[in-house]
Amino acid sequence: MGCSLALTLVSFLICLFQFTPCASSVHPLCRSDERLALLLFKDSLSVNKEASADPFAYPKADGWKFQGVDCCYWDGIECDHNTGHVTALDLSSSCLYGSINSTSSLFRLVHLRKLNLADNDFDSSEIPSGLGNLSMLTYLNLSNSVFSGEIPLQISWLSRLTSLDLSNEVDLECPDFRSLIQNLTSLKHLHLSRVIVSSPLPSILVNLSSLSTLDLSHCGLSGELPQYIFQLPNIQFLDVSNNLHLTGTLPATFSSRQLKSLSMSFTSISGVLPASMGSLDSLEFLDVTACKFGGSLPSSLGNLTKLTGLALQNNSFSGDVPSSLSNLTRHQQIQPRCHPFSVCQLQQAS
Ligand SMILES: *[C@@H]1O[C@H](CO)[C@@H](O)[C@H](O)[C@H]1NC(C)=O
Ligand SMILES: *[C@@H]1O[C@H](CO)[C@@H](O)[C@H](O)[C@H]1NC(C)=O
Ligand SMILES: *[C@@H]1O[C@H](CO)[C@@H](O)[C@H](O)[C@H]1NC(C)=O
Ligand SMILES: *[C@@H]1O[C@H](CO)[C@@H](O)[C@H](O)[C@H]1NC(C)=O
Ligand SMILES: *[C@@H]1O[C@H](CO)[C@@H](O)[C@H](O)[C@H]1NC(C)=O
Ligand SMILES: *[C@@H]1O[C@H](CO)[C@@H](O)[C@H](O)[C@H]1NC(C)=O
Ligand SMILES: *[C@@H]1O[C@H](CO)[C@@H](O)[C@H](O)[C@H]1NC(C)=O
Ligand SMILES: *[C@@H]1O[C@H](CO)[C@@H](O)[C@H](O)[C@H]1NC(C)=O
Repeated sequence: MGCSLALTLVSFLICLFQFTPCASSVHPLCRSDERLALLLFKDSLSVNKEASADPFAYPKADGWKFQGVDCCYWDGIECDHNTGHVTALDLSSSCLYGSINSTSSLFRLVHLRKLNLADNDFDSSEIPSGLGNLSMLTYLNLSNSVFSGEIPLQISWLSRLTSLDLSNEVDLECPDFRSLIQNLTSLKHLHLSRVIVSSPLPSILVNLSSLSTLDLSHCGLSGELPQYIFQLPNIQFLDVSNNLHLTGTLPATFSSRQLKSLSMSFTSISGVLPASMGSLDSLEFLDVTACKFGGSLPSSLGNLTKLTGLALQNNSFSGDVPSSLSNLTRHQQIQPRCHPFSVCQLQQAS
């Protein structure tokens, strides 16, 4: 439904476009082999209104044929201004339906630095291993695009990646997490929500020293959450929630002060909330709902003046909520406004 509304909008925009002088048609920047590769890629997929969930989704690639010969001006495309090579392809929420295999013309676009195919429906096909040949990629987003099966190890060749998002709503598996990430040492953002990671978290994670976002929610993680994960020097958003068999404890001290959001809800993480948490002075969101924490709440939590979301319910905390903390609430520094993927509220410990 989003697509049909958006179609009208697109037609309107195309009309506007055609009244605009198009400098590009004189000396096209776009290389003809890359233009052909784009058109073949588009033609290998069909358009299906149900394929994208975003209400503003529209079939971006359908407009290409009206947008002139210079593919650098097409919707969703960016080129290098000097060489004319296609460097970015963003067909997220474009109502694309079908499968992509490794013979796809997509893999001729070897100068791509950014590829976003999120929120389409690739019909439960496997993530094509040909992606490993796009060695310039720094950004790859295949989230919620109905791929299934195992993440191909060829993704690990993409050592320039700073952002990798494979979050999804169906079953993707990552049988060898260690090999997947071992060369991805430039990663800043790693989103693997709902990707089944069957192995325990490998110590090599600590080498991803640029990581600022790590989302491993709903990954079927088991074993111990390694404490060094909290010492990643740039970590800001850490989500290991909804891994019922994930055990472990929090470290006694935190060397990194950058942490803004920590979600551990619905895990078997236990022990106490250490007093040193009061030193996490950037912390805005803390969710430990339904973990196995006990002991008393440290009064140092009252130091967390940036906190806007705190959820402590369904643990085994004892004693009273420290007055420092009720002070935070009383001064309404803790707002009901919350992190996108969690309900949160301050509740009296049981
Ligand atoms: C790959 O997909 C194309 C259509 O896009 C199809 O013609 C071809 O047979 C497929 N190749 C394999 C090996 O599945
Ligand atoms: C991936 O794309 C989706 C849909 O466009 C977006 O919501 C998400 O934030 C993107 N992920 C990253 C890491 O940019
Ligand atoms: C990827 O690169 C390898 C070696 O460079 C080549 O043999 C293979 O055909 C390429 N695959 C694709 C899908 O382009
Ligand atoms: C990691 O990088 C090294 C050196 O660049 C390379 O030899 C190795 O094959 C890569 N391993 C993986 C799994 O990509
Ligand atoms: C981290 O990287 C260093 C060198 O870059 C390497 O010597 C070390 O073995 C790596 N750590 C792990 C856990 O693989
Ligand atoms: C909390 O703040 C108080 C007063 O500013 C300070 O003395 C104490 O060390 C802080 N606690 C932590 C754990 O940072
Ligand atoms: C908390 O525990 C109660 C009683 O066991 C249960 O009814 C409730 O659903 C739990 N809430 C959460 C958020 O887990
Ligand atoms: C609560 O806040 C008031 C005013 O900001 C302050 O004077 C008092 O020391 C605080 N109490 C605690 C227990 O932090």
